[in-house]
Amino acid sequence: MANKLKVGIVGANRGSSYFRQFDTIAEADVVAICDINEASLQNLAERFNVPHQFTDYTEMLDAVDLVVLATPENLHVPQSIEALDAGKHVISEVTAAVKLEECYDLVRAVRKSSAKWTMAENTCYSKHNVLIRNMVEKGLFGDLYFGEGEYLHNIKTLHHDESGNPTWRYYWQVGINRCNYATHSLGPVLQWFGERVVSVCCLGTGVNTDPEHAMEDTVMMLCKTESGGLIKIRIDMLSNRPANSYFSLQGTKGCYESSRGLGAAPKIWLSEFGISEQWRPLSQFDDLLPERWINPPTEAQEVGDLGEYFKVRDFVDCILNGTQPPIDVYTAMDYTVPGLVSEQSIASGGAPMEVPNFREIE
Ligand SMILES: NC(=O)c1ccc[n+]([C@@H]2O[C@H](COP(=O)([O-])OP(=O)(O)OC[C@H]3O[C@@H](n4cnc5c(N)ncnc54)[C@H](O)[C@@H]3O)[C@@H](O)[C@H]2O)c1
Repeated sequence: MANKLKVGIVGANRGSSYFRQFDTIAEADVVAICDINEASLQNLAERFNVPHQFTDYTEMLDAVDLVVLATPENLHVPQSIEALDAGKHVISEVTAAVKLEECYDLVRAVRKSSAKWTMAENTCYSKHNVLIRNMVEKGLFGDLYFGEGEYLHNIKTLHHDESGNPTWRYYWQVGINRCNYATHSLGPVLQWFGERVVSVCCLGTGVNTDPEHAMEDTVMMLCKTESGGLIKIRIDMLSNRPANSYFSLQGTKGCYESSRGLGAAPKIWLSEFGISEQWRPLSQFDDLLPERWINPPTEAQEVGDLGEYFKVRDFVDCILNGTQPPIDVYTAMDYTVPGLVSEQSIASGGAPMEVPNFREIE
């Protein structure tokens, strides 16, 4: 196909997970990769046979139309702005930003750019979360008033490199006491609610297992939504325990609880079953998935994880069709900013703090 979108992937680790999707999409080609670590760069270039390699991000921008930022979280805003100012489309890994102030710069850069920007919040594309969203939109849960998202992932081994030096995660994921890295947990729940968070209260457990870090082991953020609903987010990247991601939802007509592991199935109860009926496995409701999940496009037959594919396909489509990305910069702020604002709350003993609406900023 002529005039394919030329894609450059930045960051060799998480960045490697994007090749399969772009291989599948005929309208885009990965032509370049960039990493400051030359060994990682060479390794990735050989693995995926990428023609152009760069250690300098600015140089790579000239060679591409679209960048995937799979770099440390603190680089997402500066690298996004540089790309947007150069008219290059951006897929930013999560989270969108690490400081409240830089969110204003990012939103303004997206507004003035001719290019598109999205945040790659993949949990919004995971099968169960998509299914629940579709069921919510069909009215099966009634009016929503409570939801939960948990991300429990002991990643202490990633806080230092092989030589013992602190990594970016040391500073930006566990080096600040707040509800860091909350977009995976908050994103899907906010999609179900169809609202944004207006205020947050945040408390923690105290620092117990790894006193070196400012972030308390478990940090709990309570979010009030526009209509008065409540969302509970628990993040823990430090406690000694197996990993788990968990979601739940409660509406006037139904409720959902995802798996907590060890073979437990995600389960659902809807009032239409009758009040005395028990939970049913969510798997019984696969026919309520969106049509594209039931009959995926031909190109996606071999893609593996459909959600990861749709995440990239949707963004390519919005570029080709001149439409808004499904997770645009305002949606990304809705998912990212509560966690940033929670820093003020946890420092104030859990006092409620207002979450700015970036649709309304100058
Ligand atoms: N969505 C998900 O499920 C998911 C999973 C893992 C990581 N992530 C996100 O992906 C991003 C990367 O995470 P990771 O685990 O791969 O981190 P990592 O530290 O393993 O890799 C980051 C890479 O970026 C490179 N890098 C650093 N500065 C650079 C620069 N200025 N220019 C070019 N390359 C540079 C590093 O050399 C390294 O290879 C983070 O934002 C993280 O939050 C998302």
